[in-house]
Amino acid sequence: MCGIVGYVGERSAQDVVIEGLRRLEYRGYDSAGIALVGAHGLASDKRAGKLANLEKAIADHPLPAATTGIGHTRWATHGAPNDVNAHPHLGAARRVAVVHNGIIENFAELRARLEDDDHVLVSETDTEIAAHLLELQVQSGVDLTTAMQRVCSQLEGAFTLVAVDADDPERVVAARRNSPLVVGIGEGESFLGSDVAAFIEHTREALELGQDQVVTLTRAGVEVSTFDGRPAEGRRYHVDWDLSAAEKDGHDWFMRKEIFEQPRAVADSLLGRRSASGRLQLDEMRLSDQELRDVTKIIIIACGTSFYAGMVAKYAIEHWCRIPVEVELASEFRYRDPILDYSTLVVAISQSGETADTLQAIRHARVQRSKVLAICNTNGSTIPRESDAVIYTHAGPEIGVASTKGFLTQLVACYLLALYLAQVKGTRYGDEIDQVLGQLEAVPGQIEAVLEQAPAIYELARTHRDSGSVLFLGRHAGYPVALEGALKLKELAYLHAEGFAAGELKHGPIALVDQGLPVLCVVPPQGRDQLHDKMLSGIQEVRARGARTICLAEEGDERITPYADELIRLPRVPVLLQPLVAVVPLQLFACELATALGHDVDQPRNLAKSVTVE
Ligand code: F6R
Repeated sequence: MCGIVGYVGERSAQDVVIEGLRRLEYRGYDSAGIALVGAHGLASDKRAGKLANLEKAIADHPLPAATTGIGHTRWATHGAPNDVNAHPHLGAARRVAVVHNGIIENFAELRARLEDDDHVLVSETDTEIAAHLLELQVQSGVDLTTAMQRVCSQLEGAFTLVAVDADDPERVVAARRNSPLVVGIGEGESFLGSDVAAFIEHTREALELGQDQVVTLTRAGVEVSTFDGRPAEGRRYHVDWDLSAAEKDGHDWFMRKEIFEQPRAVADSLLGRRSASGRLQLDEMRLSDQELRDVTKIIIIACGTSFYAGMVAKYAIEHWCRIPVEVELASEFRYRDPILDYSTLVVAISQSGETADTLQAIRHARVQRSKVLAICNTNGSTIPRESDAVIYTHAGPEIGVASTKGFLTQLVACYLLALYLAQVKGTRYGDEIDQVLGQLEAVPGQIEAVLEQAPAIYELARTHRDSGSVLFLGRHAGYPVALEGALKLKELAYLHAEGFAAGELKHGPIALVDQGLPVLCVVPPQGRDQLHDKMLSGIQEVRARGARTICLAEEGDERITPYADELIRLPRVPVLLQPLVAVVPLQLFACELATALGHDVDQPRNLAKSVTVE
């Protein structure tokens, strides 16, 4: 949700900032802007629409050369996505420029105060007040760092702010509260980004900032302080992926590349999980065996695709560990006054580690004395930092806005957590756990087999260009897969798509079925005979009413053939693990259909990768 870049050093700040924005554009693409500071003072340009519009404007009207600059790519919250509301915002004297991610909750009150003092605010944003307030401070004689500390102390809400001062061209100052910001440390140069992708081509040395901290960047290095001006320290770390991970590698979309990376991502997420004696180990599990044995209830909280991973986790944990599990949308969690205590384990699933709804939910859980375990893909992000324990997924950077490899590796982490709890609680024998681990280790090869069917799935997707509506059916662990398939189609192809538990159809949704309606059916493995039979009945019911069925069924399942207008074969896996292979054709289907419709698959309309506002 908004991408932020900052640079000070020897290079062309314009080049570094624009390149950084290109890598962060997945975070928001309603508008983009840049401000440069040099001997000439401050120069800025900003444009509604994608980054390309800003690049064109700069090409037509070049900005003066500078080696200090900031940039922004926006996902609009306050005010329409137009040129005026685009960032950077400037103070009244055009001395200070600011970019911002997040929401300043008390902006109306601060704006009224500024307007009472005859400030003219030209945009509808909450950001512009920060530019005016910072400028008032530097005009009073303090440096930009002190100005930032003082202004942030007046702000409420969640924000990352990055500012430059025309009278101090060697300094970029930033601050964060509940919103992402990382620092890149180079030789004689320093970088800022909403995530490391912004500067990974220049340095892999990064610094993670704590809550309510201000950072000052100069060529000489980086200084961190608190909002009340005390010196502080960030946590330094080395980024363990390189530029190629943030490139498309010959694919048309990041999403497609990420779908094809799934065999490796799943394998990486399984790496190093067995001890020398063969027992399952989770390095970042900071909860003791006794704390885990004391767990009597688990509540999983997450949003969107991560929520569906949580639904699958419920089946696995309840079956293998016999612990009751609730799965709850993070945005709803704290409003229903959930019953929590020290024996409740809250599991927060988040690819980005920055989702505001999930973050607020875990804070609520911790206040109620529950332990929180995060399942997260982003090292150094806020959610794992604020949790008692973490299982990192090792998907690598996920750039496409629609989650794919993030989802699959979340599933892997959920299975590992379930097996670990079973090991600690003794609800499964060691050899049973070993058997499932072996089955998981075979999954990367099985995903490869699904990916080999991509050309046929693409062909099928293209024939659905004119479909107005698509339904997805599943049962048991296939139900969240149906929901995920529908979400992918909604967000990428902008089609009406709904996922249903197949047994629920006859209670209402079957009224939607009409002649020719495409219905994608996730058929459970035959090993679960009752489930399989019941699914076949559901498929027959929709077919009898004219639906065209596209069935995803395991190799060797011949009973499905008469009921499938189209058949996509899945490798044979146990029912609990089937989501790992069944979701892949649905990802391919949505990606290709959206491409055929001419949509921007990596940056669907109205969305942003990391949703840092509630
Ligand atoms: C859909 C998608 C979103 C995210 C959701 C949670 O493809 O990506 O639904 O899953 O916004 O994001 P994280 O996992 O970063 O908390």
